[in-house]
Amino acid sequence: AHVWQGIIKEYADYLPEHLTTHIVTLGEGGTPLVPAPALSQATGATVYLKVEGMNPTGSFKDRGMTTAISAAAARGAKAVVCASTGNTSASAAAYATHAGMVCAVLVPDGKIAMGKLSQAIAHGAQLLQVDGNFDDCLVAARKLAEAYPVELVNSVNPDRIEGQKTGSFEVVDVLGDAPDIHALPVGNAGNITAYWKGYQEYYDAGQATKTPAMWGFQAEGASPIVAGHPFDEPETIATAIRIGNPASWDKALAARDTSGGLIDSVTDHEILAAHRLLSADVGVFVEPASAAGAAGILKHAAAGRVPHGATIVITVTGHGLKDPAWALRTESGEDITPVRVTADVVSIAQALGLN
Ligand code: F0G
Repeated sequence: AHVWQGIIKEYADYLPEHLTTHIVTLGEGGTPLVPAPALSQATGATVYLKVEGMNPTGSFKDRGMTTAISAAAARGAKAVVCASTGNTSASAAAYATHAGMVCAVLVPDGKIAMGKLSQAIAHGAQLLQVDGNFDDCLVAARKLAEAYPVELVNSVNPDRIEGQKTGSFEVVDVLGDAPDIHALPVGNAGNITAYWKGYQEYYDAGQATKTPAMWGFQAEGASPIVAGHPFDEPETIATAIRIGNPASWDKALAARDTSGGLIDSVTDHEILAAHRLLSADVGVFVEPASAAGAAGILKHAAAGRVPHGATIVITVTGHGLKDPAWALRTESGEDITPVRVTADVVSIAQALGLN
C-alpha cells in the first residue's frame, strides 16, 4: 500500500526545487473527495466536496505551510510571523514548532474562533491580539518582516501558493480530469489563486484535458472584490473570511477572468443554511466560512445558472470543530440543548419515540 508522505514529496515534480531540500511536514494533503448527494440533488449537477478539514491542523492552510516553513528552514530562518483570522495562525504555529522555529501571530481582537486560538497557543505561538481587523494585522506583519529578522508566512509569500496548488492536483488525480466548475470561499484570495495555478499547471503537463471555471464566494458583509472597492469595516459571522482588502485581489480577478468563472457574495443566512445542509444532510462538519462555496453553488442553482450534469468540486476549507458553537443554535438563534432523561430504558425509548 502507498503511504502518503505529505504534499511536497507526493508532488515534488511540480514544485520549485528550493521547497524540496529541507522538508518540514506533518503529513498534510491526501484529503478525501467526498460525493455530496444532497447537493447534487439540489443543483442537478454532480457535486463533490474536497474536505480540507482533514489536514493535520484542520484546514487547507497546512498545504501552504509545509512549503512556506520548509523554504524558511532551508534558508536558516529562526522565526516566522503571520497575520491571521485564525487558521493560518494554527497552521503556522504547528509547522514552526515542528521545525524548531519561533512563531509570532497577529490576530484581530475578539474575532477569531476559539478552536483556532487554542491551537495557536497549544503549539506555542507568541500570539498578539491586535486592536484592529485582519487587514490591519497584515499591514503590520508585512512591516515587521521587512524591518526585523522574521519571515512572513501569509499567502503573499509565493511559497504558500505553491503548496496550496496541490489541492487541484489531488482533485484531478481522483476524478481523472478537471471538474467543470470549482467553487470555494474567498477571503484574502490566496486559495483561489493557488487552485487556479494548480489546474493550469496540471493541464499544461497533460494531466487534465480541460480547466474548470473558478467560482469564488465572499461573505456579503466582507465582499470587496464583488463591490469593486475595499471594505473598511468588514463584518460576517464567517470570521475566517472577514477581510476587507484582500492581498491577492488582482490574482483572484485574473483567476476569475481567465477561467471564465465568477466571484459573487453570499449572505450570512445563506452561509449558515449551507453549513447546516453540509452537516445534517451530507455528514461533513465544516466551519461557517467553509460553507460559502456550497452556499454560492446553491444560490446560483436556484437562479438556474448551474449547468445540468456539470461536475462541480467545492473546497470546504476548515473543520467544524474549529468553531463548533454554530451547530448548537437553531436558524432563528435559539440554543439547542440535549433532552435529559433518567437512566432507564423505558424513558430513553419514549424520548426516542420508539414504541
Ligand atoms: N476558509 C477558511 C476556513 C479560511 O481560514 C480562509 C482564510 C479562507 C477560507 C479564505 O482563503 O484567504 O486564501 O481566500 N483564512 C486566512 C487565515 C485569512 O488567516 O486563516 P483565502
